Amino acid sequence: MGLQYNIVILTGAGVSAESGIGTFRDGGGLWEQHRVEDVATPQAFARDPDLVFRFYDMRRADIQTKVPNAAHLALARLEREWQARGLGSVTLVTQNVDDLHVRAGSRNVIAMHGEHLSAWCTACDQRHRWTAPLIDRPACPACGAHNLRPDIVWFGEMPYRMADIDAALQAADVFVSIGTSGAVYPAAGFVRAACANGVATLELNLEPSQGSHWFDESRFGPATQLVPEWVAAMLG
Ligand code: OAD
Repeated sequence: MGLQYNIVILTGAGVSAESGIGTFRDGGGLWEQHRVEDVATPQAFARDPDLVFRFYDMRRADIQTKVPNAAHLALARLEREWQARGLGSVTLVTQNVDDLHVRAGSRNVIAMHGEHLSAWCTACDQRHRWTAPLIDRPACPACGAHNLRPDIVWFGEMPYRMADIDAALQAADVFVSIGTSGAVYPAAGFVRAACANGVATLELNLEPSQGSHWFDESRFGPATQLVPEWVAAMLG
């Protein structure tokens, strides 16, 4: 086995923007139509579950009408070919709760903020693939309780698989951040962890993110252009 070169990629809403899924903080972004504190916190869910269910039911239905774009497809190709050639690991950490990376063919995906197409039963702690609405309080297929909620990490909750992400960052040779504003921690702090570990860092985004100055290199433009170009260069 030759030298291993491990790649960790962090993606955000910008990667799915050109698939027609609204970002959170750009003009016309999601939180302008719904204030974040009205939908994306455990307190909001306790206060007005119907509003929260309606919001996520709408999003869950919407993403099922969208398809992966050239950026998702390029990242899936990178993982496939990197592994086929035995060059190292490709770990895709996504803040996105759509399933477009998986549908594009990426396999080593960590959905740190949860998934729209998953429902979590707070009675028995099981998770189920879920494509239908939740507002009518369907029964959990495992225990029968009517305690299913969106399997989304809300503000104030702990993102998923942080230990796996830390391990991947420790073992990384390059960290690439794509289509994220760098506004939400802990994901926004990964670039600094990478720097501290001596990992090379690259940002691909439409515009400078909040942590832009932390990156060794930044390239600005649409993900469907920048990501296939970067992948082609890596594989070239
Ligand atoms: P944001 O909406 O905060 O940022 C999206 C970023 O993508 C911005 O910096 C845009 O400039 C950039 N962008 C927009 N269109 C792009 C394109 N076509 N190509 C490349 N970049 C583009 O979204 P996130 O950073 O993902 O959390 O937001 C992080 C978290 O905040 C989300 O995961 C969500 C939200 O609260 C949860 O749902 C738990």
